[in-house]
Amino acid sequence: MTKLWGGRFTKTAEEWVDAFGASIGFDQALVDEDIEGSLAHVTMLGKCGILPAEEVEQIKSGLNILREKAKKGELEFSVSEEDIHLNLEKMLIDEIGPVGGKLHTGRSRNDQVATDMHLYLRNNTKEIMSAVKKLQEALYTQATKHVETLIPGYTHLQRAQPVSFAHHLLAYFWMLERDYGRYEDSFKRLNISPLGAGALAGTTFPIDRAYAAELLGFDDIYHNSLDAVSDRDFIVEFLSASSMLMMHLSRLCEELILWSTQEFQFIEMDDSFATGSSIMPQKKNPDMAELIRGKTGRVYGNLFSLLTTLKGLPLAYNKDMQEDKEGMFDTVETVKGSLNIFAGMIETMTVNTDKMEKAVHQDFSNATELADYLATKGMPFRQAHEVVGKLVLVAIQKGVFLLDLPFSDYQEASDLFEENIFDVLHPKTVVARRNSAGGTGFDQVKKALEKAEHALTFS
Ligand code: ARG
Repeated sequence: MTKLWGGRFTKTAEEWVDAFGASIGFDQALVDEDIEGSLAHVTMLGKCGILPAEEVEQIKSGLNILREKAKKGELEFSVSEEDIHLNLEKMLIDEIGPVGGKLHTGRSRNDQVATDMHLYLRNNTKEIMSAVKKLQEALYTQATKHVETLIPGYTHLQRAQPVSFAHHLLAYFWMLERDYGRYEDSFKRLNISPLGAGALAGTTFPIDRAYAAELLGFDDIYHNSLDAVSDRDFIVEFLSASSMLMMHLSRLCEELILWSTQEFQFIEMDDSFATGSSIMPQKKNPDMAELIRGKTGRVYGNLFSLLTTLKGLPLAYNKDMQEDKEGMFDTVETVKGSLNIFAGMIETMTVNTDKMEKAVHQDFSNATELADYLATKGMPFRQAHEVVGKLVLVAIQKGVFLLDLPFSDYQEASDLFEENIFDVLHPKTVVARRNSAGGTGFDQVKKALEKAEHALTFS
């Protein structure tokens, strides 16, 4: 079959060779963006007097017909037309005749594909940003219900100090706030138009790049044509922001999975976000959380795949760059899916406050409190640490916790201890008193909730 670019060829490639080189199997996802870019380009050609108004109208109406057909799923793409750009150009010519061939005046597939990618990622970055906000809202809402719910805080996955469950949830809220900020920041470099850079060097036609950029809602144009067609930084940035986001989601997944175990029982996933076992009737598995944790790997993979593809590429366009698409599409789907599922999981999970409460009473996570108590009374902290360590040992040997030790044991350890020590040791007091800025003290958590609400309202 003759190609749109077939003039200088004396024979055609075999079908299986074409199939290997083709990207239409996946870049048809850019159909809307490609048409949008073409409409702006041809409008600009008209405005600059490069094409007569009548031909511009013909081409526009042809493109609009294709857009309608695409919406209805009526376009039949073919591998022999290689990619979305050539498929649409061929369809346009079939639709309106040879005048359709004028669309590509002053343009190359190289600036065209880069434009499509910018448009695609711009729309999807916006969607992802609002999905991030939705998840933050879900975390915020759960947090408002659990300011006074206590949960063991861990370091080294060993009980460390009790914290407010709201405080724990809000930690993820702030991670997501940074993720949001990274997408937002990437937008500055993403919303720039490569259109009109031509194949690599610009064009002889008197085009108006700024006008086309404005039509497409871009904030600026690339100021170097070589850079415009060979830049894929904006995709790397997207994949990188997405990798970081997925890393955060994955960490929370790990906690949700742990908390849903028989051993913890801190939360229970709603039935709608869990699955059963085909053999073990009692099982309720937190599959969705596991899957998001798992999918984090493929997003990292997509980032590394693109970085590796780009690392040795000379300027300007190289066909290697066609490999930038699948990882990007896959990441968009993965991130959107993960965020939506996550918001649902957080909204619907049952928080077993009684189990958390029980847990914080059955450990030594109030030991720091005792050391602080002695230090407040003038004992050097290092010495206080030693005294309390010995008391912990006494309790372990007696098989009890600090609150259960008789006062005589305290007196024996240090004459600085007074009877009020038992109030200080109570987990609620332990948490309430950690009132330094950003701490888990209830007053601090309430302040943090206000800050979070502000972040949700003004983003
Ligand atoms: N399918 C190509 C890609 O995705 C489009 C650009 C092709 N340009 C070229 N000169 N072969 O990268």
